[in-house]
Amino acid sequence: MHILDIIRKKRDGGTLTKDEIEYFVRGCTDGSIPDYQLSALLMAIYLNGMTHEETAELTLAMAHSGDMADLSAIHGVTVDKHSTGGVGDKTSMVIVPVCAACGVKIAKMSGRGLGHTGGTADKLESIPGMRIDLSPEEFTAQINKIGCAMIGQTGELCPADKKLYALRDVTGTVESVPLIASSIMSKKIASGAERILLDVKTGSGAFMKTTEDAITLAEEMVEIAKLSGRRAAALITDMDRPLGHAVGNTLEVLEVLETLHGRGPEDLTEECLELAANMIWLGEQAESLEHARKKAKTALETGKAFEKFCEMAEAQGADVRYLREPERFALSPVRKDVCAPRSGYVVHINAEQVGMASVRLGAGREKADDMLDYGAGIVLKKTVGDAVQKGEVIAELYGASAEKCRDAESVLHGAFRYGDEKTEECSLVLARV
Ligand code: URA
Repeated sequence: MHILDIIRKKRDGGTLTKDEIEYFVRGCTDGSIPDYQLSALLMAIYLNGMTHEETAELTLAMAHSGDMADLSAIHGVTVDKHSTGGVGDKTSMVIVPVCAACGVKIAKMSGRGLGHTGGTADKLESIPGMRIDLSPEEFTAQINKIGCAMIGQTGELCPADKKLYALRDVTGTVESVPLIASSIMSKKIASGAERILLDVKTGSGAFMKTTEDAITLAEEMVEIAKLSGRRAAALITDMDRPLGHAVGNTLEVLEVLETLHGRGPEDLTEECLELAANMIWLGEQAESLEHARKKAKTALETGKAFEKFCEMAEAQGADVRYLREPERFALSPVRKDVCAPRSGYVVHINAEQVGMASVRLGAGREKADDMLDYGAGIVLKKTVGDAVQKGEVIAELYGASAEKCRDAESVLHGAFRYGDEKTEECSLVLARV
């Protein structure tokens, strides 16, 4: 087999065989196919697409390119969740304890922040003492004992995806449904989940800018799960504005604690309950989605989800005094108010720009090896549809220095758009696949 023949076949609109896809992924992993040929094939896939079967084969080959987590020691059906990434998306830290309190086994592996989007692994590490590097044995034992664990990605998962993702980033081939779907699903399959809930974000803060494109991606990922013997469902959710009010690691943990006490922002609470209900249903702990919704709401209202979060965090080494007395958390020392430049209504908040402002404050990384400032970030005081007066506070910034806050303030001003009329509220959950 020759890589040149495979490139020519895809360039001319052909369908690749399982053997050809495995040859390409093997050559990518062991370095025997040079970057320029991998890139040429990626561009051919970008331009000519892939059938569902080709995409499923690519996913499985990438999943098997490195370590495969073995969750067979966990008693019962395990459910995982994946979000395609957003700003202020702290849903996992709410959903995992809600679902575990309802009897679902949750094995959650989370990533770090990427670009303007935050990562759950970083947010969890902002809780003093919290370990997200459990060994595979500790991970499965904890899930069997208390029903859930949240860790960072371990071992060498999907090295082929790592390589291809880096090449896609620099060759204009990121925005391809088969390439995104196989990249995400290969990591989910390698991390061992049997049932997967996909939260596909759409809007200004997401990879998929329109609902139609998000649905196409969701359908492709659900189909891959089916072809690989797993079950998945997907919700298409709005990421045209940040989720909740807080953006930044400690600030988001504080908002999660409020939400687990039933005092969280309405949009965040609503989205978490819908995602949790779908996971409870996938995990076979409810007779219907309606029943699952009721169970999720009860877990939140009775405080059982908060207690489960404390139990999980304590099992992973966290100092739970911080969770029970959140005033113990320290925020960055410089606080700056951002004020509205005019009166009117907030008609749009660009999530990507809010994410960039939080990166400027030190809450995210500009380079892969940047240190995070856990106490840095933004609390939005106004959201879309709110009336504002000129000079009224629209956001609070927390940073290590006045310079960082000034820098972030100018980015944040660009994120807010004002108008003379109130915009209509749009639903947060836009579709289900
Ligand atoms: N997230 C991934 O893991 N891969 C993509 O291609 C896009 C988003």
